Order: sequence, then C-alpha cells, then structure tokens
Amino acid sequence: MTATKIYGHRGCMGTYPENTLLGFRKAIEQGVDGLELDVQLTKDGEVVVIHDEILDRTTDGNGYIKDSKLQEVKQFSAGANYAHFPNYDEATWVAERVPTLQEVLELLSPYDTELNIELKTSLINYEGIEEKVLSLVEQFGNGRKIIYSSFHLPTLLRIKNIDQDAEIAWLLDQRISHPLDYIQSLDLEALHLSKHVVLSDVYYLKDFFDKIRVWTVNDKDEIKQLLDLNVDAIITDFPGRALFYRSERKS
Ligand code: G3P
Ligand code: MG
Repeated sequence: MTATKIYGHRGCMGTYPENTLLGFRKAIEQGVDGLELDVQLTKDGEVVVIHDEILDRTTDGNGYIKDSKLQEVKQFSAGANYAHFPNYDEATWVAERVPTLQEVLELLSPYDTELNIELKTSLINYEGIEEKVLSLVEQFGNGRKIIYSSFHLPTLLRIKNIDQDAEIAWLLDQRISHPLDYIQSLDLEALHLSKHVVLSDVYYLKDFFDKIRVWTVNDKDEIKQLLDLNVDAIITDFPGRALFYRSERKS
C-alpha cells in the first residue's frame, strides 16, 4: 500500500512566503512529494503564481492581477509582507517576486516533485487560461505528474477537452451527493476535499480514499488521522511536520 503523499500548500506557507520560489525551494528541501500552487492571468496574458485576484495581501503592491502587466506585477515584493514570520530574513524575502508558472516549472525541473496547479477561475473568467497553462506544462513540465484542480468545474472540463490525458481534480469545500459517480462520470483523477468534508464523515468516502486529497491539514491529530485513512495526499502549510509524522510510523 502506498503511503499518503505530502503536498506543500502554496509551497510551505506556514513558514515561508506563499507561492514564491523561496517557498517552493524550501518545501522541496524538506522532501515533499508534491506542491500545490495557484494561478491567475495578468493583463498581458502571463500565467502567474499567486493565490488572490489582487496583489494587496501577499505583496507590497495593490490592484487586480487582471489589470496589471507582468512587468508591473514584478515590481512588487512577494516576501515583504511576512516580517512577522519567525524565520523572516529581510534581505532574502524582500527580493522575492510573484513567480510565473514557467519559472516554477523551471525550478522544479531537476526534481520529480508532483505538481498541483490550482486554476483560480471562480471569481474571474480568465479567458484562455486553460490553453496557456497546458502549453506551459507541455514546454516546461519535464514529464512530471501534474494535477489540475479548480473549484470551478467548467475550467476542468475545458482542460480535459483540450487534453484528454490531463489529470483533473475537483476542489470542494462541501459535501456532494454520490462523489464516486462524479469521479467516474467526469473522469476526475481525484477529488480535493477540505478536511471538514472528509473528517466529518469518513464512512461516506471509505471506498475510494486513494482518489481523495485533503486540504489544508496542519493539526497533528488530523494529519495522523488522515495518514491512518491512507488518503492519497495531505495538502499542508507545514509539510515538514507532516513528513515527520509519516516517517515516525515507518520506523
Ligand atoms: O488546493 C487546496 C487549496 O489550496 C484550496 O484552497 O483557497 O487555499 O487555494 P485555497
Ligand atoms: Mg490553492
């Protein structure tokens, strides 16, 4: 039986600035099996790795990504807002920029790390984002396992329509009826469920935990519970912590 994989959420956002090359490097150093990141589209059509539709929370800039060209987005620091983190290192962190998806794929190139690309299309309809993401993966993905996820199901169906081999996972933070029917009917590779959905009713999913990834799981007891259930993956802000709990049970 394959052990539950550990995915770093937005890199390792519990300890390093989220969705930055620094955070992705640190997560890889910790030994993650996979990384989760979020993508949006700039005004000039570049796929950038940032969680929010606006720059305000995670950078020292402001405004919508959709209204900013890549060059403008790159003017802002993606690390300066995290001075309250215990291991904040001003010189390094302030220099961090919002990465493009291409930059992240290039960073991952030497590693076999799995990558979950979450397309943030629920609030803004980024026309053509599916084609752009698939094209970047084709050029720079280096053959790694890629899982495309989104809360917005039509985005995933568009991806599948462009590339029938693409692995798509529907993100949900609420219970749906007959989840296995969705998986089979829509050819979903997995469901990415919030921990509340999974932990509130384990029985409901018991026959297909290998098709379930769970976010965002940081609590020790919850991590251990999900390792026991042998879900496919845990997506966590503290991958080092989850990797430690997993290693404990092997020894
Ligand atoms: O992909 C899991 C998780 O990232 C979904 O929620 O808001 O953190 O992107 P969010
Ligand atoms: Mg996400």
